[in-house]
Amino acid sequence: MDVLSLSNSNDLEKYLIGAYKNDVISCKDVLKCALECAYEGGKLIKASINQREHKDNNPIAEDSSYDKPATIFHQIKSSDVDLVTETDIAVEKLIKLKIFSQFPNHLFIGEEGDIKSIDTIDRKNKFVWIVDPIDGTTNFIHSFPIVAISIGVAYEDENIFGLVYNPMNDELWFAWKNSGAFMKKVDGTIIPIKTSLCNSVNSALISTGFGMYLLRSNNMYAKQEINELLQLIEYNTRQLMLNSRDIRRIGSAACDLCYVAMGRTDSYYEFGIREWDIAAGLVILHEAGGSSSTVGGIESYSLKGRNILVACNITLRLQLNQLLIDTDINRIIDAIENK
Ligand code: IPD
Ligand code: CA
Repeated sequence: MDVLSLSNSNDLEKYLIGAYKNDVISCKDVLKCALECAYEGGKLIKASINQREHKDNNPIAEDSSYDKPATIFHQIKSSDVDLVTETDIAVEKLIKLKIFSQFPNHLFIGEEGDIKSIDTIDRKNKFVWIVDPIDGTTNFIHSFPIVAISIGVAYEDENIFGLVYNPMNDELWFAWKNSGAFMKKVDGTIIPIKTSLCNSVNSALISTGFGMYLLRSNNMYAKQEINELLQLIEYNTRQLMLNSRDIRRIGSAACDLCYVAMGRTDSYYEFGIREWDIAAGLVILHEAGGSSSTVGGIESYSLKGRNILVACNITLRLQLNQLLIDTDINRIIDAIENK
């Protein structure tokens, strides 16, 4: 297998055989641009964590500021557990500039920017880059080494490309629609990936983000719906605790999806997720053989989030659709976010 051949742009063609084609886009140029964005953004993330750890571990070093907090300065967004740092903003800015310098006619959705969604009608004949500069901001703030830069591309409403990069351990996953999914491992080897063969809930390792951000909303007018959400989450957690092999809370939805794609876990579900958390990971998951739907079982290749269940294959997903519930979740989310 190849070692570090992603740094040589002539080698990229071999990961694009059969890739979804469109006359106006070069698959190789998109992959190359996404790789550059991921590696350059990754340097900022690593530098921030390294600098912090250096200070924390060397309290008497001359250049240290011992009075600095152990965790990085952050601000809160939709709830007191939904966080953003200067690094999230800097990485998104860098990625956006790079994309627009190469693809000035494309559209851009980013978690930390002004445009957080684009209607189907405005996507007509357009490519849309969907970016989360740090997926796993809470992990990042705590120097917990599972964070990802997530870069997806959609044509109109269809997700066609995804790349997810964890700069903390240098793991990278990518896929073009119809080309299969690949992973660059920590040692630089690039391998095709496939989901696990698990076909029974009781041998499945399942990750989730529960629905933490929604649950911790401060919207005092939606107390009843927050309580309904808690009941849904409690019910589903109990079902998994009683029936699955075990549960994981990884802290990065993009990694949750890639872990299922490579067979590290067998399934993932969450309420309240957003398009930038999953656009890239869903392409990787599907190209690796995985299956996706809402928790209740509604299927769509291009889910835009809010309510997602994925599994290594359709057999396991259908079992989980039976076991878990999402009763009234659209009404509940709408109330929590807009009431
Ligand atoms: C979050 C992470 C987390 C998931 C949240 C996401 P962020 O993204 O993916 O695992 O549970 O729903 O919002 O805020 O760290 O980019
Ligand atoms: Ca983020």
